[in-house]
Amino acid sequence: MINSLTNRREELFPGKIIEHKQEENKFYFSSANEVTLLVQVLTSRIIRFRYSPDGYFPPDFSYAIDPDFKPEPPKVEFTQKPDSFQLTTELVVCIIQKEGLQIKILDKSGNVINEDEKGYHWEYDLQTGNNTVKMSKWVQSGEHYYGLGDKSCNMNLRGRRLQNWGSDTYGYSRNSDPLYKSIPFYFGLHQKTAYGIFFDNTFRTYFDFAHERSNLTSFWAHGEEMNYYFFYGPGLTEVAEQYALLTGRSAMPPLWALGYQQCKWSYYPESTFKGIAREFRERQIPCDALYLDIDYMDGFRCFTWNKEYFPDPKRMISELAADGFKTVVIIDPGIKIDKNYRVYQEGFQNGYFCRRGDGPYMKGSVWPGLCHFPDYTHPVVREWWADLFEELITVDGVRGVWNDMNEPAVFEQGTFPDDVRFDYDGNPCSHRKAHNIYGMQMARATYMGVKKFCYPNRPLVITRSAFSGTQRFSSTWTGDNVASWDHLWMANIQCQRLSISGMSFVGSDIGGFIETPTGELYIRWLQLGIFHPFCRTHSSGDHGDQEPWSFGPEYTLLAKKFIELRYRLLPYIYTTFWQYVTFGTPMLRPLTFMAQDDTETYHRMAEFGLGDNFLICPITQAEVDGRWLYLPHGTWYYFWDNTIYIGGKEVWAQAPLDRIPFFIRAGSVVPFYPLMQYVGEKEITELTLNLYYTEGSFTSTLYDDGGDGYAYEKGIFTERKFIVTGTQVSLTVSQEIKGAFEPTYTTYKIILHGLPFGPETIRIDGEPLLLDTVVDPELDFEPESQNEKFPVIYVRRDFKTLNIQGIASDPMLPEPEMA
Ligand code: GLC
Repeated sequence: MINSLTNRREELFPGKIIEHKQEENKFYFSSANEVTLLVQVLTSRIIRFRYSPDGYFPPDFSYAIDPDFKPEPPKVEFTQKPDSFQLTTELVVCIIQKEGLQIKILDKSGNVINEDEKGYHWEYDLQTGNNTVKMSKWVQSGEHYYGLGDKSCNMNLRGRRLQNWGSDTYGYSRNSDPLYKSIPFYFGLHQKTAYGIFFDNTFRTYFDFAHERSNLTSFWAHGEEMNYYFFYGPGLTEVAEQYALLTGRSAMPPLWALGYQQCKWSYYPESTFKGIAREFRERQIPCDALYLDIDYMDGFRCFTWNKEYFPDPKRMISELAADGFKTVVIIDPGIKIDKNYRVYQEGFQNGYFCRRGDGPYMKGSVWPGLCHFPDYTHPVVREWWADLFEELITVDGVRGVWNDMNEPAVFEQGTFPDDVRFDYDGNPCSHRKAHNIYGMQMARATYMGVKKFCYPNRPLVITRSAFSGTQRFSSTWTGDNVASWDHLWMANIQCQRLSISGMSFVGSDIGGFIETPTGELYIRWLQLGIFHPFCRTHSSGDHGDQEPWSFGPEYTLLAKKFIELRYRLLPYIYTTFWQYVTFGTPMLRPLTFMAQDDTETYHRMAEFGLGDNFLICPITQAEVDGRWLYLPHGTWYYFWDNTIYIGGKEVWAQAPLDRIPFFIRAGSVVPFYPLMQYVGEKEITELTLNLYYTEGSFTSTLYDDGGDGYAYEKGIFTERKFIVTGTQVSLTVSQEIKGAFEPTYTTYKIILHGLPFGPETIRIDGEPLLLDTVVDPELDFEPESQNEKFPVIYVRRDFKTLNIQGIASDPMLPEPEMA
């Protein structure tokens, strides 16, 4: 398979199985030439395959696997046939060939889900002493592939070869590979059934999806073990959830971190930084966080301030905080070699920096000039690093930290030399093995510090580099993109792909980092960005301004309108985040994930879901007034004018610059916050619920926990379910409430969209509501639909059942338009 890349060294294969043994849910198979395969059935959906070429398994260690993951071994039936062994669980059958150790996994109906070609094989590399470990599998009929984290190519990976080696890729382009992150996890989908494979190997990894040979898919690494996890779906979303169960889930972020964030390289001095804050408030454009890039530091020394630019950071940050702004600062890994610099001294004296193979500390040049780099794979170094944040947070008042350049990036050389040594938590190794998890361990150490010192508030960490599992510690963005339409297209794909690869808290530099967008491009990008969990404008700053008001009055108004919409949608986005935290469900859902039974979706990628009820499709072309897109099955409302669309086909969405194609699923109850300039500006006394009528029944969720602190971990939250049931002449909404949190709002303002009948009687928990209470003349619902005419009902928050009975038609009500 991969001989073209590996100089045709000899490929080695397992021989015939001559021994096997079982230890609870672990099954060992040893071959005549000493190869051992360990099959570990972790849950009814997750099976691990671990191979040793010489019968010896080194201590089991992984940064990716969540330490809190608890296997729940199902009942496994073990049988032996003349040519194979068979493990059967309630969901799958796993067959292990005696000759060659090939694996075949079938579902209970006998359909092959995944099947080895050569299966496990390897080559010995005389130069490094490592094995190149390989796995090859048959491509199943009609099989498609998705996932792999940070890739800028088409969503569907069939026909591609990709690799994982975290790289600083300034101004990357479509198909650039590798990029900043390494997520060796993919989905396979065929016969409408999905599975996943996570290759838990931190060396440079390669994945070939029917690229070299159209009937084979393979993956390999230049060291360590062939050690992979198989996830059974059958849903793509279930696979993503299994992966998140294994590699860990994010914690709830502070709600403000879902607000709008403004960044630039760099805002300084203080007057400029505060000037940006003032503009936001004067223009009444909501914003929660402002970022300081590297120039806030003294000579780019981490954990210092440039006192000329920022003479009194504590005062400045507290003044900003009084106006609702949270300050986030950048921290890079490079520690300037400077004998008079405390962080350098501590790191040097205590041996915290990475060393070259022969002993001296490694040197590399980044922003501050020559630097040493902490070995974040050492637990003591992580503790030290975490404590370095104390002053920034507890004294200065910083609320979040942005980790950058942690691939690790080094000027000129690209990254560290291969001989650099790492502790790897007591499993010493070279850079070849530690490279891909360096950024993750930095983000982990940063998270430990930010979490500790922000307590009782929740931390925000953002990292550029990541490995599988980084979602436990940090949010992320897609790095140094360009202000171009093509990059807007990529931002959409990259964020979706990161979301299905465990990292939902993701966004792109809105407007593009390099170069300057036109007003039109900026608005089109912002329209997409408000639907990304991490919503931040950032730019390199040397090409022009990139604030929401930088493109002239017409664009400023549009930017304000979309950022305001983001703030209205916060309770929905927060609920979606909670689903991600609780179940591992990706927040951004590619169309195929929304409709995997519909093969029409398999090559589409522009359309995506945010949470359960939204469908978005960005405009990524200049000067257009709309676009064709594919709506998944079901009934959908066009957000901007409530036109009703039937899915399962292509539709035209009219979207001049003041709209993005945005559809809401019929039957949804979509919560809206009142307009705020920042999270917590106002006490919310009334929550708007936009109810989109449907015939039939549909359930929506609303999660609330107050938006900060840790009480939610002790059950102080509420999960509300709204079960909407519509007929031609009635609508019933039942509310089920779980949890102990008391929101500040006591009333719901329910706006009814698309009701096909005139309400005649309304009952709330059996009591009648007067009909004349239903029309709200002061409807502050933003879009330009004729919603003044829509009925509005005010009900007490904890109602159980709302029932509306109607008469078939009311000339006062707009006829829902059908498209
Ligand atoms: C890197 C980052 C970018 C940042 C810059 C300066 O290029 O990706 O976001 O602004 O460094 O710190």
